[in-house]
Amino acid sequence: MNNNQTARRMQRVRPSPTATISDNVRALEAAGKTVINLGEGELDFATPAAISYAGIEAIVQHQTKYTAVAGTAALKAAIAAKFTRDNQLQFQPEEIIAGSGAKQLIFNAFLATLDAGQQVIIPAPYWVSYPDMVTLAEGEPVIVACEEQHGWKLQPDQLAAALTPETRWLILNSPGNPTGAIYTGQELRALAAVLYDHPQVLIMADDIYEPLRYDQLPFTTFAAAAPHLAERTLTVNGVSKSHAMTGWRLGYAAGPRWLIAAMQILQSQSTSNPSSISQAAAVAALNQPANFLAGWIEKLDQRRRCVLTMINSVDGLSASAPQGAFYVFANCQRIIGRITPDGEKLQDDKALAAWLLADAQVAVLQGSAFGTPGYLRIAYAVDDTALDVACRQLKTSFARLRPV
Ligand SMILES: Cc1ncc(COP(=O)(O)O)c(C=O)c1O
Repeated sequence: MNNNQTARRMQRVRPSPTATISDNVRALEAAGKTVINLGEGELDFATPAAISYAGIEAIVQHQTKYTAVAGTAALKAAIAAKFTRDNQLQFQPEEIIAGSGAKQLIFNAFLATLDAGQQVIIPAPYWVSYPDMVTLAEGEPVIVACEEQHGWKLQPDQLAAALTPETRWLILNSPGNPTGAIYTGQELRALAAVLYDHPQVLIMADDIYEPLRYDQLPFTTFAAAAPHLAERTLTVNGVSKSHAMTGWRLGYAAGPRWLIAAMQILQSQSTSNPSSISQAAAVAALNQPANFLAGWIEKLDQRRRCVLTMINSVDGLSASAPQGAFYVFANCQRIIGRITPDGEKLQDDKALAAWLLADAQVAVLQGSAFGTPGYLRIAYAVDDTALDVACRQLKTSFARLRPV
């Protein structure tokens, strides 16, 4: 054995494509290029000042020590109040855990519950991290391809066909990354009806983009739509996207006591409590009215339209308007196979994304990273001027491609 040989489990995990694209962008910038990054899953807005000041106040008040592993009593109370206010869900403190981002909680939930070979149903297109988290926890991702004509949403018959005695979890992400799709209460109830006869299956509702919705679309989380399945539902959320706090690393989850207790044990032996400073800021975020939100949605909506206009002006690209989040998932199947000015044939969406980075100096992500080849994910959470320039540069580059 070499001394630099990693564990076998490392063969089951790939670097996150979103982190890879950001690394590529940084490398190009270091080489003097100006790149506009439409690959990042992060709002460009500043964390609202009152929230940041709550973090500063926590430092000044010496709230800089270990806290309870699953979060302070004040934070758990704020999380419980949020669930009551926004989702009509009631949770006791033992049914709530805060962690260093929703990502950690999702990972720990899988690690705490999956035995080797147990299956997790992941509707595609999916958030890039789900399959790797499942395989790291020795589970088996079962990818179910959702269709654009169904609004990218899992259909009850698809769910019924994917369920087996080995199924342990179904993941539902609404509003979804990368498509922005939002499940209605009725759609969730139809999925719940299928799950009813499979009592071994847990449901993970990843609601991280909850408030980022357009056209006044309502939001229902799975546990509220199907209260009879609440005992096997883990509702995951956080302040990363709702309050532009990605760097604070603060997520939370609520569900059955046994599951929260198991996740807490894992957390107690790895990272312990999330940052005490971030917890104090999250208390402010959850307890204060989100007055900034309407302005954010208005801005994101303008940007959404800007990207859709660009897409509609390019022969070979198409996309439906996302219902939430801040990504357009554009069909580029008719562009794949076209020839660059250098004579290179763009064989797939990955080659197209790589060429756009080089030619337009705009970073976007290939749909295959989300389990759905033939698409591009364009994140529009960058400032208006940058987005304008990026759209113009993308359009120019697309026009430079020749059909076969
Ligand atoms: C669908 C989805 N879930 C969870 C996360 C992770 O959020 P956090 O920053 O709270 O770890 C992301 C981040 O991009 C996401 O897109």
